[in-house]
Amino acid sequence: MDTAKDTLLSGRRRFLAGSLALGAAALLSPAMNGAARAAGMTPDATNGEGERESRMERRRLGGLEVSAIGLGCLPMVGYYGGKYEKKDMIALIRRAFDKGVTFFDTAEVYGPYISEEWVGEALAPVRNQVRIGTKFGFGVEEGRPKALNSRPEHIRRAVEGSLRRLRTDHIDLLYQHRVDPQVPMEDVAGTVKDLVQEGKVLHFGLSEASAASIRRAHAVLPVSAVQSEYSLLWREPETKIFPTLRELGIGLVPYCPLGRGLLAGAVNERSRFVDERRATLPQFTPEALKRNMALPNLIRDWARRKNCTMAQFSLAWLLAQAPWIAPIPGTTNPAHLDDFLGATAVSLSPEELREFTAACSRIRLVGHRADAFTESQIDK
Ligand SMILES: NC(=O)c1ccc[n+]([C@@H]2O[C@H](COP(=O)([O-])OP(=O)(O)OC[C@H]3O[C@@H](n4cnc5c(N)ncnc54)[C@H](OP(=O)(O)O)[C@@H]3O)[C@@H](O)[C@H]2O)c1
Repeated sequence: MDTAKDTLLSGRRRFLAGSLALGAAALLSPAMNGAARAAGMTPDATNGEGERESRMERRRLGGLEVSAIGLGCLPMVGYYGGKYEKKDMIALIRRAFDKGVTFFDTAEVYGPYISEEWVGEALAPVRNQVRIGTKFGFGVEEGRPKALNSRPEHIRRAVEGSLRRLRTDHIDLLYQHRVDPQVPMEDVAGTVKDLVQEGKVLHFGLSEASAASIRRAHAVLPVSAVQSEYSLLWREPETKIFPTLRELGIGLVPYCPLGRGLLAGAVNERSRFVDERRATLPQFTPEALKRNMALPNLIRDWARRKNCTMAQFSLAWLLAQAPWIAPIPGTTNPAHLDDFLGATAVSLSPEELREFTAACSRIRLVGHRADAFTESQIDK
């Protein structure tokens, strides 16, 4: 585990310098403020930059600086059930921005397309103050969203579509969503490198890539971040990719940091899932849930002890693992957003981390984190 303190201190210094620069930019940019007003945003959303951003610690992922907690925009398209109104989800994304979130996660395949469209519309008035991560790598345009496709011409087409839907001329962080065994990593990284040279992409990322793939990509174009499932429910990255990320100076963006709701207390052993993602996952079968509830029960006890909520505790634990980690919890609910953003105020001492982690390691979780098809697309 790394010590977060130095990074935190230097992050605060960088934040002060960044606020001054951004404050000046706001003064120089009446058009942007006009756009914000037209979009119904509070003046604070653009003008009160220093005040707004001071509410959230920042973290560095390779060469990219982001808020310590980002917002995952997948549940908004009904991934965990439900149907959500565009206007409500746009308000939710703006609420996150108003609360200091500057890191937003989406993908071409979320919806497909819908998530990018909503993210693009919500963030257009504050585009230069946020960092948007999106992903290519499935054959969405060919109408085969489950099939991998990272051929260079496909990457280029996907990026043009993402830029259009996101209403922007650049993508801050472009990830390959899944490693494509049919396309050498050097060709993928080379294509993204060209897009960087053209100014369409600022940073390169990979999702669920093995240490070997990360190295091959990084040799062609520095990788800023790897996005993989990582939470108290799924800790495999600690052994599989942490040493490589640490060695190469690459950030980790944990996805499903709340264990798809389980670690936030949104699931109990009577929960049943129909027509949504969790219905297909071995960790969420009725039998598995009976056993796996030991983990949220432990988190509940610790959250009481730390006077915080379960979501806050689960994210605080993640943030404490290394200063180069920035999770992207997802939600459709403004109260849940307000809740999990409180995680940055929860600190865990080395002693507490040791005690909690030891208690965790006594829990025997059952069921894999993904269905067999999804797992077959994960680069080992
Ligand atoms: N790279 C990849 O392959 C990949 C795969 C999956 C996800 N992702 C990205 O990672 C992001 C995060 O993952 P995720 O959204 O799938 O899972 P998650 O963040 O682990 O959990 C999301 C679930 O937790 C619930 N929740 C959130 N805050 C809560 C709170 N305070 N109290 C109770 N329940 C709460 C949400 O329900 P409510 O809506 O009711 O709040 C939602 O159902 C995604 O949005 C997406 O951007 C990437």
